[in-house]
Amino acid sequence: MTRVSETPPQDQLLGLISSLSDETRLRLLSLLEQESLGVAELREILQLPQSTVSRHLKILMDQGWLLMRRHGTANLYHVAEALDETAAGLWGLSRARLRGWPTLGQDQLRLKAQLRKRRRRALFEAKATDWGDLRAALYGVGASLDALAGLLPPAWTVVDLGCGAGELLARLSGHLTHVIGVDQSEAMLAAAALATEGRHNVTLRQGDLAALPLDSASVDAALMILALSYVDEPEAAILEMARVLRPGGRATLIDALRHDPPGFMEETGQTHPGFEPAALRGWLEAAGFTHITITTRAAEPEARGPALLQISAARGEAR
Ligand SMILES: C[S@@+](CC[C@H](N)C(=O)[O-])C[C@H]1O[C@@H](n2cnc3c(N)ncnc32)[C@H](O)[C@@H]1O
Repeated sequence: MTRVSETPPQDQLLGLISSLSDETRLRLLSLLEQESLGVAELREILQLPQSTVSRHLKILMDQGWLLMRRHGTANLYHVAEALDETAAGLWGLSRARLRGWPTLGQDQLRLKAQLRKRRRRALFEAKATDWGDLRAALYGVGASLDALAGLLPPAWTVVDLGCGAGELLARLSGHLTHVIGVDQSEAMLAAAALATEGRHNVTLRQGDLAALPLDSASVDAALMILALSYVDEPEAAILEMARVLRPGGRATLIDALRHDPPGFMEETGQTHPGFEPAALRGWLEAAGFTHITITTRAAEPEARGPALLQISAARGEAR
């Protein structure tokens, strides 16, 4: 911070305050005090155009928050180790006030994914290839899903709640005696009918996830993937999921972790901006689920969406 300390103290203070008065710059500082990162990595973590990231980095550099070092062909940025007293005080206050901001939680997960990607790139550098990409190019992405579906007991009846266009139904129907898809949308069900054409073990039902058109205790396992955040009453949908499962039946639910990227809900039509793990756990317990595990994982590095929650649970024997 040698540069700013030469300016009058009031100007320095105003400069520091104004450089903090921007969400992107707060996100940058939170990330760059933990890791040295390049522009391309920051672009993927923040999900912002490179030009926007560069502009904010420049402002933070000019105000003395950041230092840059060269690493191979990339410039890596990090928060200066020795911030002066004013800057360190302002940032300490800001950091404390930002605790619990969902955007920072999402950034944190993307940072971890980005660091994994960096390590993987380093591992594969010698080979100049990435088995994941080669595998997808040669065989597509479905082989592992089939392998997992093959682990399900073939006699099970599995329901996909909010089945959408039915890709998963088509895949599961190759392994199971009976597969059911429920969705409220006629258009989605028409697409699912096409995807599962000729599969006689697939039943499609139109209905609301909060009032399922299925008998109680009639299925062995239920999936609800990226559907709960569209339902007006998610708690009711979880109760319904419990009702249709037989005692001991298994449920897997995937949905977005609570997030707040601007425009995302408008783009996807979601009713809820994802969920807090604790809220979901409470609803699942109230519905009589046991053996609940909730894991959080960042969206894949190239994907734009928020981090996901994956939940697995068993319906208790008695409700
Ligand atoms: C984002 S799509 C996900 C589809 C599929 N599960 C997937 O992973 O690709 C959400 C689906 O949930 C359905 N859906 C939303 N709210 C629903 C409700 N209240 N009852 C039944 N289906 C609903 C939508 O019609 C849509 O097909």
